[in-house]
Amino acid sequence: MTHAHIPRRWYENAVFYQILVGVFNDTEGRGIGKLKGIAEKLDYLQWLGIDCLWLSPFYASPLRDDGYDIADYRAVHPDYGTMEDFEDLIAAVHARGMKLITDLALNHTSMDHHWFQESRKDPHGRYGDYYVWGDDPHRYPEIRIIFTDVETSNWSFDEVRGQYYFHRFYKEQPDLNYDNPDVHEEVLSLIDFWMDKGLDGFRLDAIPYLYERDGLGGESLPETLEFIEKLRAHMDKHYPDAFMVAEANQPPAETREYFGDGDRVHMVFNFPLMPRLYQAIATSQASPIVEIMPELLHLPAGAQWGNFLRNHDELTLEMVTEIERDLLYSAFLPDDSMRAHLGIARRLAPLMDNDRAKIELMFALMFGLPGAPFLYYGEELGMHDDSSLQDRDAVRTPMQWEPGPGAGFTTSDTPKRPIVGGEGISVAEQRHDPHSLLRFTRSLIAARKAHPELGIGNYEAIEVAEPALLAITRTLKVEDRVIASDPLSSAPLVCLYNFAPHPLAIPPQALANLSGIGRVEIGSVEAGTEIRSGDVIPAFGFFWLTAQ
Ligand code: NOJ
Repeated sequence: MTHAHIPRRWYENAVFYQILVGVFNDTEGRGIGKLKGIAEKLDYLQWLGIDCLWLSPFYASPLRDDGYDIADYRAVHPDYGTMEDFEDLIAAVHARGMKLITDLALNHTSMDHHWFQESRKDPHGRYGDYYVWGDDPHRYPEIRIIFTDVETSNWSFDEVRGQYYFHRFYKEQPDLNYDNPDVHEEVLSLIDFWMDKGLDGFRLDAIPYLYERDGLGGESLPETLEFIEKLRAHMDKHYPDAFMVAEANQPPAETREYFGDGDRVHMVFNFPLMPRLYQAIATSQASPIVEIMPELLHLPAGAQWGNFLRNHDELTLEMVTEIERDLLYSAFLPDDSMRAHLGIARRLAPLMDNDRAKIELMFALMFGLPGAPFLYYGEELGMHDDSSLQDRDAVRTPMQWEPGPGAGFTTSDTPKRPIVGGEGISVAEQRHDPHSLLRFTRSLIAARKAHPELGIGNYEAIEVAEPALLAITRTLKVEDRVIASDPLSSAPLVCLYNFAPHPLAIPPQALANLSGIGRVEIGSVEAGTEIRSGDVIPAFGFFWLTAQ
């Protein structure tokens, strides 16, 4: 039986790059990054191979939660520039054939939002029912607290209204009431506001938490999934080329719910996979990855995972078992000042002890396992973090463009956050050094683009006796090409990843799909090198191999 072929969509194999506007590039010498500053760096991002930028919130906000507390959904925070700067940025991004998505926190607003201000003053007025108000601060006992370092309850008392309001995050972020149809209308209308400016899509922040129900809690409820379907239908009707990526940090099976039958979101961040990559490094075992993969395959048409290693939050350990969490803490949390909530606020390079092989191995997994990769700004340089900063600010320090005091980020003596620095850790130092991490990342992205099967192709684990070796075959069917220029690569690509701290001899089974001899496309030895069984793969090394 033949199925009608549904063409692949652009986002399914795009390379994404996450930017925090306030720390990326300051064009005014005031210590704060600007939207204009991003426009100036598009050359760099295009040179690196980035297809789509994701901007974390840049809306009007008191910045209690770095902008995820939105006070006006339709205004640009004056620190970052103007609406015109934003429109210019979209135009500049599109002129290069790149794409832009932004972040929308729809579960909650800032307390400063005029909806909340009206709601607290006038329970019977137009906004009286926009938030989740109540008289019992013990309602919804099933609902876990997310910001455990700061909050002890999901309810806070409001003196003005004389009632409690519900908040999943900081008390300055009251949850919107999705039982109120007016809230739906507001959300669809602000989505139109931004989409009509030409955006290519959204990241949906904290999307599992829209509804709460007695006895059922407040995560992934049927009503929430139904609202996402409504959002998707709206997007499909009005903006059919755009896409939405969900932040749904839930257990694996529940995470998949966000794809629905291809009628919910287009993409979901791969929270099920992420901690397992760290676990594999910590234990020198491929099994944490091998075991989760079957749960992540066979998505509905048009659906894709968003793979990531790090982002602007802590490396979250909410969804792993207690045993796994202890293991990950003992491997990656040498000092409690680096902990944030139920996770670790460190960047990738320090997590990997600045060990180049381990960093490259992690990148190769993010770029080489099914999904679309999301690179967090500065990781391509191996940037360090600053654990003296509060909460997750440790991993939100300014991008390092050049060596020296302002790091090329700003000419101000008082940057928004301290510059971490470090010898050799800047774009200027790495761009022309063929051995730099930046140049490695760029080559990896190029190799990934030459092999679209890495993102969207068939995945098959190869059984090998060596527990530290992950061996996978990836193949692409002609009809899976995302864009017409993608190569017709139906030959298998074999990916080998060594989690052992020592070299391993490659077993014959690993190369059987290549008739025993592979040629390195990219990896821990020079491209083009022939690899046969018995040859070694270096400690924490990896190879992507094609047939000789
Ligand atoms: C998830 C975001 O990634 C995080 O930074 C934020 O604090 C919460 N959602 C609340 O919006």
